[in-house]
Amino acid sequence: MKFISVSLLLSTCVALCLSSAIPESLSLAKSSSNIHAVLVAGSNGFENYRHQADVCHAYQVLRSHGVPSENIIVMMYDDIANNKENPYPGRIFNVPNGTDVYQGVSKDYTGPEVNSENFMKVLKGDKELAAKGKKVLQTGPDDHVFIYFADHGGTGIICFPSDSLTSQDLNETLTYMHQNKMYGKLTFYLESCESGSMFNNILSDELNVYATTAANPFESSYGCFCDQPDIYTCLGDEYSVAWILDSEGNVISKEPLETQFQHVTKTVKNSSPQEYGDKTLANLDVGEFQGESQSSIDAFVKHVKVTGQYNSRDIPLFNLKRKLASNLSSNETSEAQSKLLNVISGRRFYDRAIRNVIDELCTKGFCSHAADVLSIRSPLIDHNSYSKIVKQFNASCLNVAIHYYGLKYMYAFANIVESNNFDPASLEKFQHYLEKACLNHVVAHGYDAII
Ligand SMILES: *[C@@H]1O[C@H](CO)[C@@H](O)[C@H](O)[C@H]1NC(C)=O
Ligand SMILES: *[C@@H]1O[C@H](CO)[C@@H](O)[C@H](O)[C@H]1NC(C)=O
Ligand SMILES: *[C@@H]1O[C@H](CO)[C@@H](O)[C@H](O)[C@H]1NC(C)=O
Ligand SMILES: *[C@@H]1O[C@H](CO)[C@@H](O)[C@H](O)[C@H]1NC(C)=O
Ligand SMILES: *[C@@H]1O[C@H](CO)[C@@H](O)[C@H](O)[C@H]1NC(C)=O
Repeated sequence: MKFISVSLLLSTCVALCLSSAIPESLSLAKSSSNIHAVLVAGSNGFENYRHQADVCHAYQVLRSHGVPSENIIVMMYDDIANNKENPYPGRIFNVPNGTDVYQGVSKDYTGPEVNSENFMKVLKGDKELAAKGKKVLQTGPDDHVFIYFADHGGTGIICFPSDSLTSQDLNETLTYMHQNKMYGKLTFYLESCESGSMFNNILSDELNVYATTAANPFESSYGCFCDQPDIYTCLGDEYSVAWILDSEGNVISKEPLETQFQHVTKTVKNSSPQEYGDKTLANLDVGEFQGESQSSIDAFVKHVKVTGQYNSRDIPLFNLKRKLASNLSSNETSEAQSKLLNVISGRRFYDRAIRNVIDELCTKGFCSHAADVLSIRSPLIDHNSYSKIVKQFNASCLNVAIHYYGLKYMYAFANIVESNNFDPASLEKFQHYLEKACLNHVVAHGYDAII
C-alpha cells in the first residue's frame, strides 16, 4: 500500500480545496465551544487496528471542524502506531492513500485505563477522576455531547479491551446524565456487531438522545479496507468510515443528522444502520455535534471508494489467511499458521461448548432444544434480566471482551430470556444453573483467547 505523503496531499488540497472554501460568515466557531465529545476505541491488538484508526480519524474530523481539543476525551489503548506488525511505524491510516490520523490525537485514557468503569465515570463527570487530573465530562444543560464508540459487541453488550458494558449499564449512565442535566442534546454513534440491540427497546425518547448504529440488533457490522497490500488487518469499519468521510466531505454546519444518516445508509452495503431515541434531533445539523467551522474540504475524501469489506466476526481468520497467502519469511509463515490453527480450534471448541451449555439449561426446563434456541433471534425486550445473565455468563463462562468470539452466541441468551418471562426467583435459579453449565463445559478451555 502506498500512502501519499502529507505534504503532497496538502499541496493537492490547496489547489482543489480553495474553490470550495466556505465564507467566513458560516464559520460559527463560537458554538463549537458548546460541543463536548467522547471518542472510544474499545479494543486492543493489531487484528483490531480498525477501531483505533476510526477513533483517531473521528478526532481529526472534530478538530478540523473547530471542536477544541480540551473538549474531546479520547479513550484508546494506543498499541497500534508502534506495534511491531505496523509497516508504517508511528502512523495510523483509516483510509488507503489517506493522511496519517494518529498525529496530534490527545490520548486521555490509554492501555488498561480503557475500561467500562472509566467510560461510565467519564460520562458521569466523576469527581474523583477529575481530581486525579483525568478528563471527564463537565458539561451542563446548554451543551451538546457527541459520543462515538467503536468495538466488538453482541446482543446487549459492547466491549472494552478486557471488560464489557451491558445495554442496561449504558441506559443507566445516559439516564444519570440526563437527570443531572449534563447535556442539552446528545448524539451517540455506535459501531459494533448487533449494535442496534444496545438501544432497541431500551433507549427512551425522553432523554434528548439521538443514536445511530452500524447494524440492526441481529446482524454483524463490517470492517473495511481489509484488502490492503502489506498490512494484514482492516484499516476501518464500514459504518464508521462512512460517517467520518461524510463529515469530512460536506459542510456539516448545514447538513442535518438525518441527511448524514441517509448518506451512511447508502454507503454501508453489508449491514443495516439504524436510528434510535429522539428522532426529532435528527433535524439538527451535524455541525452542532461535530463542530460548526469549516476551513476547506479535502477533495480526496469525496472520491474514496470503500473496498475490502469483511464481516467483523471473521476478520481474525481473514487476516491470518491473507498473511499466509502472501510472500512472508518462513518464520512468519509458520507463526501465522500456528495462530490460524489456534483460532480455528478455539472456535470449534466454543461452537460445541455453547451447544452443551444450552443443552444442559434445556434439561433444567429453560428451553426445549439447543438447536431451536440457536436458530432463532428474538428481539431483546427484558434488558433487565438479560443484563444479569450476561454478567453471570461473563463471570462463570467466558470473559467475552477477551474471548470475543463468544459474543457471537449471546443472542441465544436473549432468546432464553424472552421465552421464559423470568421473575427474580426463576432468574436466580437460571443463573445458578448457568454457572454450573459453564463449569461443566467451558471454563477449562485452555485457550489464551478465543477470537
Ligand atoms: C491508492 O493509490 C493507488 C496508487 O497510488 C491506487 O492504485 C489505489 O487504487 C488507491 N486506493 C484507493 C482506495 O483509492
Ligand atoms: C432505561 O432508562 C429509562 C429512563 O431513561 C427507564 O425508564 C427504563 O426503565 C430503563 N430501562 C431499563 C431496562 O432499565
Ligand atoms: C518473495 O520474497 C523473497 C525474499 O523475501 C524475494 O526474494 C522475492 O522476490 C519475493 N517474491 C515476490 C513475488 O514478491
Ligand atoms: C524465528 O522466530 C523465532 C521465535 O520467534 C526466533 O527465535 C528466531 O530467531 C526466528 N528466526 C528467524 C530466521 O528469523
Ligand atoms: C466480565 O469479567 C471481567 C473479569 O473476568 C470483568 O472485569 C468485567 O467487568 C466483566 N464484565 C461484565 C459486564 O460483568
